[in-house]
Amino acid sequence: TITREFIEGLPKAELHLHLEGTLEPELKLKLAQKNGIDIGQTTIEDVRKSYDYDSLASFLAVYYPGMNVLQTEDDFYQLAMEYLKRAKQNGVRHVEMFFDPQAHLTRGISFETFIHGYHRACVDASAFNVDAHLIMCFLRDMSSKSANEVLKMAEPYRDMILGVGLDSDEHHNPPLKFARPYSDATSQGYHTTMHADIDQVDSIDHIKQALEVIEVERLDHGTNIVENQDLVDWVNQKKLGLTSCPLSNGFVTNDMKGKEMIELMEQGVKVSINSDDPAYFGGYIADNYEALAKNYNLTAEQLVTFAKNSFETSWISDFQKETYL
Ligand code: ADE
Ligand code: ZN
Repeated sequence: TITREFIEGLPKAELHLHLEGTLEPELKLKLAQKNGIDIGQTTIEDVRKSYDYDSLASFLAVYYPGMNVLQTEDDFYQLAMEYLKRAKQNGVRHVEMFFDPQAHLTRGISFETFIHGYHRACVDASAFNVDAHLIMCFLRDMSSKSANEVLKMAEPYRDMILGVGLDSDEHHNPPLKFARPYSDATSQGYHTTMHADIDQVDSIDHIKQALEVIEVERLDHGTNIVENQDLVDWVNQKKLGLTSCPLSNGFVTNDMKGKEMIELMEQGVKVSINSDDPAYFGGYIADNYEALAKNYNLTAEQLVTFAKNSFETSWISDFQKETYL
């Protein structure tokens, strides 16, 4: 049987992790008190109770207001550092972390404030052997023009950011809406990925746009390509990674999607296991491996394959990959 020790000991890369989704009730309350911000709750228990949702929309309605407590560079540093220490305990060696510039810019926080806090945490994590990088996400419920403005603002910090992503509410916000910022980001040498939510009505169309027109290097979620053999073949041919998040899937769709993940893995698709928004969806990466292993009776060999996939589809250099694989 699979033990917790085995899972934690397995070297892993985490490729689908939202830094703002690592805000634990304890830190949220502490920062709210420090910064004098009314979050509507005054005890950890009440904050914990507010982490209650059954869809992406109801989750986002708790998620964005919660970010108000993040005000200073140190707040962003502390948020990232607490995650990175937990990642270390979970056996993470390499991580590419999403952050949402527009969620902070729109409430008056400067780009410099959050990028410096997050980047300093990445630098300091090397002291405990976690190789940490940042992926800047555009909010897809905002305009394409706004995404381009973010790209422009990021120019002075280009070397602190590994790639771009696309998150938030997918409904009526297809990949093609962001053709311009993605094309510009690619010209600037950024790696590219985007969310393809599994419960989205136009999901297959959106995935076709992401793969065939935008030509992203990874898909976040996207395991429903299993319904469409052409898409499976495409992803295999291009060796694209799919970053899946079992506990998050469980919240959003009442199904961890383990069947789909296993089916795709057996067809050679590079699917990985990740935690998405661990403070909000009940667990960090080792918890996600464990939940999937228990619910689908996975073998050690299958878990090793998921972990290998995470390094193979990461954006570290081939040379660096050799040291992990
Ligand atoms: N932002 C943070 N987590 C997200 C998710 N799972 N899907 C879309 N946007 C998000
Ligand atoms: Zn996500």
